[in-house]
Amino acid sequence: MLPTPDYKLEKEGDVYSPAEDTFLLLDAIEQEMKFLRSTVNPKIVVEVGSGSGVVTTFIQQLLADIPFISLATDLNFYATRCTKRTAEINKVSETVDVVQCDLVSAITKRLQGNVDLLVFNPPYVPTEELAQNQSELCFAGGETGRCVLDRLMPHIPNLLSSQGVFYVIALKQNNVPEMLKKYANFLTGSIVLERWCGIEYLYVLKFQRIL
Ligand SMILES: C[S@@+](CC[C@H](N)C(=O)[O-])C[C@H]1O[C@@H](n2cnc3c(N)ncnc32)[C@H](O)[C@@H]1O
Repeated sequence: MLPTPDYKLEKEGDVYSPAEDTFLLLDAIEQEMKFLRSTVNPKIVVEVGSGSGVVTTFIQQLLADIPFISLATDLNFYATRCTKRTAEINKVSETVDVVQCDLVSAITKRLQGNVDLLVFNPPYVPTEELAQNQSELCFAGGETGRCVLDRLMPHIPNLLSSQGVFYVIALKQNNVPEMLKKYANFLTGSIVLERWCGIEYLYVLKFQRIL
């Protein structure tokens, strides 16, 4: 069991502090390690909404013997800075680049069909309104809790390489059966891990392209 990477949050900027949802994603990635090594063998890894950066750094540490580059995005400038610093603290910053952008807008054109591993712990809580500030970006998922993820999903088939895989956190109230069905025309989806995380019942979903 690899420990959670060291990190240091800034006071300013409301960067998401790693929590049970983050740790569920780390556990799922570790559980999938054999598959990631043998089938995916990543060259390019992307994390959307990287927050503190512990997930990106964890992947670097977990697959340290495989040479790949990591790109991380976040809409919150302070999160991008924190992600880079977490990579630095853990001595993996040479292979981690961070960009402030909406979802994957800064990388979609250049990385078409090249992303081997994509991860996202999105804002998934159902809320009347979408995020109005940086702190709400961490959780506000709009009416279904899926509004942010639903904007990313159409990009996934174009971004993933043929062996590429996408892991995403979902909340029970997001309607996981509907999520798996909704994207079934272009992606195969399955549940790789699920458990109670405090008062939330969370899932890690895995999507791959239909070839
Ligand atoms: C639940 S937090 C997860 C943070 C970190 N990945 C983790 O697991 O601890 C969601 C993150 O997504 C970012 N985010 C929200 N909407 C975004 C968007 N449209 N584009 C990029 N990042 C976004 C937030 O700023 C926040 O850092």
